[in-house]
Amino acid sequence: MIPQWLIEQKRDGFALSEEDLRSFIKGFASGTIPDYQMAALAMAIYFKGMTDTEVMVLTDAMMRSGDLISFDGWNRPTADKHSTGGIGDKLSLMIAPLAASVGLAVPMISGRGLGITGGTLDKLESIPGYNTRLTTEAFKQVIETVGCSIIGQTERLAPADKKLYALRDVTGTVPSIPLITASIMSKKGAEGAETLIFDIKCGRAAFMRSIEQARLLAESLSRVGRALNRKTAALITDMDQPLGRSIGNAVEVTEAVETLKGKGPADTRELTLELTALMTVVTGLHSSVEIARGELAQRLDDGQALDVFRKMVIAQGGDPRFIDDPTALPQPGHRQWVTAPSSGYVADVDALAIGRVVLQLGGGRTKTDDTIDYAAGIEALVQQGDYVEKGEPLMCLLAKSPSQTEALLPLASSSITLSPEKPPARKLILETLD
Ligand code: URA
Repeated sequence: MIPQWLIEQKRDGFALSEEDLRSFIKGFASGTIPDYQMAALAMAIYFKGMTDTEVMVLTDAMMRSGDLISFDGWNRPTADKHSTGGIGDKLSLMIAPLAASVGLAVPMISGRGLGITGGTLDKLESIPGYNTRLTTEAFKQVIETVGCSIIGQTERLAPADKKLYALRDVTGTVPSIPLITASIMSKKGAEGAETLIFDIKCGRAAFMRSIEQARLLAESLSRVGRALNRKTAALITDMDQPLGRSIGNAVEVTEAVETLKGKGPADTRELTLELTALMTVVTGLHSSVEIARGELAQRLDDGQALDVFRKMVIAQGGDPRFIDDPTALPQPGHRQWVTAPSSGYVADVDALAIGRVVLQLGGGRTKTDDTIDYAAGIEALVQQGDYVEKGEPLMCLLAKSPSQTEALLPLASSSITLSPEKPPARKLILETLD
């Protein structure tokens, strides 16, 4: 296999053979094919796409570049939820323990935030002591005793994807449906869950900007899921506006705990219940989404899901004091309120602008090796439909110093549109695909 011939073949729009694609990925993973050739191939794939067979082969090759976790012989169904990433998306923190509280085993491999989208791993790492780097054996042990575990992609789990994702991130080749599908499904395939629920974010702050693109990605993920013998379902959910009222890392953990206490913002609770209900129905644990939703709501309200979350934090080395005292999480050096320039209803909260504000406050990364300020972010953010009087708060910016918040006041203010008319209710779930 001559790497440049493959690149040329894809550049000219031809399908690659299984043998060639497998040896290219093997060469890239082992270091015999350099990053520049992989980047060139990724760009050719970005422009020319891939056939279903090629996507499947690419997924399989990346999945088999590391360990395959197996839950064969377990007496509980295994299921996981994967989100394509958004602003304020802390749903994994509630969904994993909630699903475990009704009897599912949830192995969850999560990612870090990059660009404006937040990452579950960074949120968890704001918890003092929480270890996101468990060995495969320890990961399975936590799932067995607690019911769920959330960790990061280790060196042994789909390492070809880890390497390729980092390369795509700096070569403008992330938003490609074949590459996203292979990236997500190689990790999910290696992780071993039998049921996979996808939360495809759609809107101005998501990779998929249009419903058509989101649908194509959902279909592509489901096709590969079926080929890997997994049960799948997907929701396409709104990412024009942020989820919840807290955006950042430590503040999102606090909002997740509130939701696990049966409180929290309505949108956050609703999507938690919908996605977990889909998980329990697809695994066969519940016979309908309505029945599932009822039981799951009870588990949020009576503290059983919170109990599982507490056990998971302790099992992974975290100090659980923040569950009863949010100040045990990293705290900002400075708080700055942003106030309404006039009275009116909140007609729109621009998730893209909010994501940019949080990133620049220090809550995200622009490069993979940037360090995060876990305390940075936004809290008490208004939501569409809220009414505010002139001078009342729209949000509170959290940062290390006044100079950081001062510079971001204009962008933060302009992210909120006020209107004299009450806007229609926000549609959170745009489509369900089973
Ligand atoms: N999440 C992933 O794991 N991979 C992608 O390519 C995009 C989102």
